[in-house]
Amino acid sequence: MGLVAQIRDTALAALPADRKTEFEQYLTPESVASQAVSLFTPTPFPVRILDFGAGTGILGAETAIYSPSGSSVTAVELDRQLAALAGQTLDHVGVEHEVLCEDALSVTLDPVFDRVILNPPYKKIAPVSLATESGYVPVSNLYTAFLVCAISALKPGGECVAIIPRSWMNGEYFAAFRTWLFGVCSIDVMAVYGSRQDHFRDSNVLQEIMLLKLSKRAQGSLVMVYDGISPSDDLQTVEHVEASLNDLLVGGSRILRVRRQSSRLAGLPTLAESGLWVSTGKLVWFRNRDILLSEPEEDSLPLYWSDNTAQLEAEHPVSGSRREQWVSNNAYERHVVLPVGSYCLVNRFSSKEQRHRVMPSLLTSTVPFVADNKLNYVHQGTSRNTIPLDTELAAGLTLWLASSLVDDWYRQVSGSTQVNATDLRELPTPSKKTLTRIAQKLPLNAKPSQENIDHVISQILEENS
Ligand SMILES: C[S@@+](CC[C@H](N)C(=O)[O-])C[C@H]1O[C@@H](n2cnc3c(N)ncnc32)[C@H](O)[C@@H]1O
Repeated sequence: MGLVAQIRDTALAALPADRKTEFEQYLTPESVASQAVSLFTPTPFPVRILDFGAGTGILGAETAIYSPSGSSVTAVELDRQLAALAGQTLDHVGVEHEVLCEDALSVTLDPVFDRVILNPPYKKIAPVSLATESGYVPVSNLYTAFLVCAISALKPGGECVAIIPRSWMNGEYFAAFRTWLFGVCSIDVMAVYGSRQDHFRDSNVLQEIMLLKLSKRAQGSLVMVYDGISPSDDLQTVEHVEASLNDLLVGGSRILRVRRQSSRLAGLPTLAESGLWVSTGKLVWFRNRDILLSEPEEDSLPLYWSDNTAQLEAEHPVSGSRREQWVSNNAYERHVVLPVGSYCLVNRFSSKEQRHRVMPSLLTSTVPFVADNKLNYVHQGTSRNTIPLDTELAAGLTLWLASSLVDDWYRQVSGSTQVNATDLRELPTPSKKTLTRIAQKLPLNAKPSQENIDHVISQILEENS
């Protein structure tokens, strides 16, 4: 092991736990640092390198080692002790450098850098809008804030490699950030780690992490995409695909996927375009404890939680459930009641162990009812107006959402275990007529197996193609 890695390993072992957590000092292991640096385009000319949130300077140092002599490094690090170690690391490498012991989000940097490399802190922050040359960009966590500042410090044609979570790629939350990013940079490489633990084994970081390489120029014709890499992979030789950015983007909120759309889904409209809408259950239980009931009363209404939707057909009441299965009719005053009819309920949260991320369940209710806020429900109205589905349509949609095809799609769109309404609205979905036909071919009360579901869906898609 070289001295650069040794300084990093010794520092990591000695970091006070409270500071480590507060400033997210999860230092990059050497293997991940080399992979990140290997993404920069080789150049015969000296480069100006920025290491942003530098820690012990491992990323700046590795970048300098692979750059022509005459290159220089600027390291920005808030923590005084780490900043001193970054100085030692860069001294050892023998590269011209300056270490700025400052807050990366307020330091003034001119756009003069050819290479920016960062493994920033990831924490959520109160939403703010950052001013950039290309307008304001809203951010709500440190990693997107660091990335915005890092890109702003690049000179035209310069390249940035970031080690960040993949959560920015989907969800409404990051939609404005994505739009800004696609406007100012070319997305050149996306490499997503396969395991949540491999990459920062000695820091216990349990996030879906990726390497993102960008350059400050118009979008290149192809993006290189690696799905499921491990820190020991050589990115020059490991399997990857090349796709145009447009083939990786989905829908109006421009979700970015790590694979091209399966050909079986190509050409299908999105769920929203098919005239369906996903809303989130309206009852936040802890703000409405006073109306929860363990036993039904006169005029009480059924309450559905994720426990009630464990099967393809919702069950009510769930015997032995610890959760109250009814609410009093005060629920009407709280505006949480949904009208009689059929719906497809979908979990908003799943666990890593669950076989499927998306777990749908048909609900046909003959009485008005209430859905807990941890459930989504699909209907054919709008965000303001709930219109239930025909029962066969709801059953067909339930089968569609239970298919392996949909589960694969969702996993490629989202690295997290949450299932959010915005992403579901972008899901390729057959027409209402086709969904109804799926239900007619495969009655839900016959409790179809996964194989049955996948088989019938593939038959119907083939007939339609
Ligand atoms: C995830 S660590 C990565 C460190 C180093 N880049 C590496 O890869 O090993 C994030 C670093 O950012 C530093 N940091 C956190 N907030 C900062 C801020 N506002 N300005 C500058 N550095 C900051 C932390 O002290 C920590 O060293």
